[in-house]
Amino acid sequence: MAHSTTIGTDIQQAKQLLATGQVVGIPTETVYGLAGNALDPDAVLKIFEAKQRPHFDPLIVHTHSIAEVSKYAAEIPAKAQLLMERFMPGPLTVLLKKQSMIPDLVTSGLDTVAIRVPQHPLALQLLQQLDFPLAAPSANPFGYISPTTAQHVYDQLQGIIPYVLDGGATTVGVESTIVGFEGDDVIVYRVGGLAVEEIEAVVGKVHINTNESSNPKTPGALKSHYAPKKPLLFGDATQLPTDKNIAVIAFDTYLADIPHTQQTLLSPSGDLNEAAKNLFAAMRELDNGDADIIFAVRFPNEGLGRAINDRLKRAGA
Ligand code: TXA
Ligand code: MG
Repeated sequence: MAHSTTIGTDIQQAKQLLATGQVVGIPTETVYGLAGNALDPDAVLKIFEAKQRPHFDPLIVHTHSIAEVSKYAAEIPAKAQLLMERFMPGPLTVLLKKQSMIPDLVTSGLDTVAIRVPQHPLALQLLQQLDFPLAAPSANPFGYISPTTAQHVYDQLQGIIPYVLDGGATTVGVESTIVGFEGDDVIVYRVGGLAVEEIEAVVGKVHINTNESSNPKTPGALKSHYAPKKPLLFGDATQLPTDKNIAVIAFDTYLADIPHTQQTLLSPSGDLNEAAKNLFAAMRELDNGDADIIFAVRFPNEGLGRAINDRLKRAGA
């Protein structure tokens, strides 16, 4: 499927393409998505093809309101309802028992469906104008760094998709936090753009189960993921190779003994939200630069620092 790809802000064009079964790059507050009609298995297949994503890795269904969620979910546990009321729209994805109208291809045969309401004006306008929800994984080739600008999507999917809806640089910068429910327990399967602390303030203590395997049931958990082409070392600055040209990703302070020109501070003011917002663009830029190897420091493991550490760890795996 060869396409001449364009970038623009035309919701009508995006709508028309989606209504005819095409896939389109769309903005959200977390990362850009590669969207198609979630109720149309042919459109969903095109998403998997464009991303070269294995069919065992299920997709998130995007809709425009909490009221819509109950169309696609068979039941909504009390704690899910509380979280949805507090954090939707926002960087929260809930795993809920699915209704049969959601194709098995979307959920990879699981009996749950992942649903979220993105907090982005263009995405919400688009979803409100469609009479179907959008299945959308992050709009990167499988395994690579997620895109945080329309240009990132274009750079990797030009010729493969017809249109990228440009909603500017994403404001959160890491993918949504994925939460499931078992009995009265709340389980976080992917740490992301909604801090665990914020979730716990609403529903109390949660379990964090971001297990790592090569074919997991909850595959945000794929061990190697979000990865640049260059080797990435994460965490321990005492082991830096001295014979290589290193580019450093740091938080708010430069590492000693390495020229500042080789270092990128994700937030000079020490703001973890700002650091998360800048993370993927920095990884991409360094991946396209002339360093041999990327080294990233460990971030404080709180707030969005948890998602940053998770992505860096998987990028280095
Ligand atoms: O912020 C986000 O969530 C972005 C934007 C575009 O919305 N989307 C995103 O999608 O990150 P993707 O496909 O890159 O990651 C979705 C994750 C995958 O790891 C998938 O395995 C998991 O959600 N997932 C989807 N449905 C699931 C289900 N029913 N049970 C368990 N995990 C599921
Ligand atoms: Mg992804």
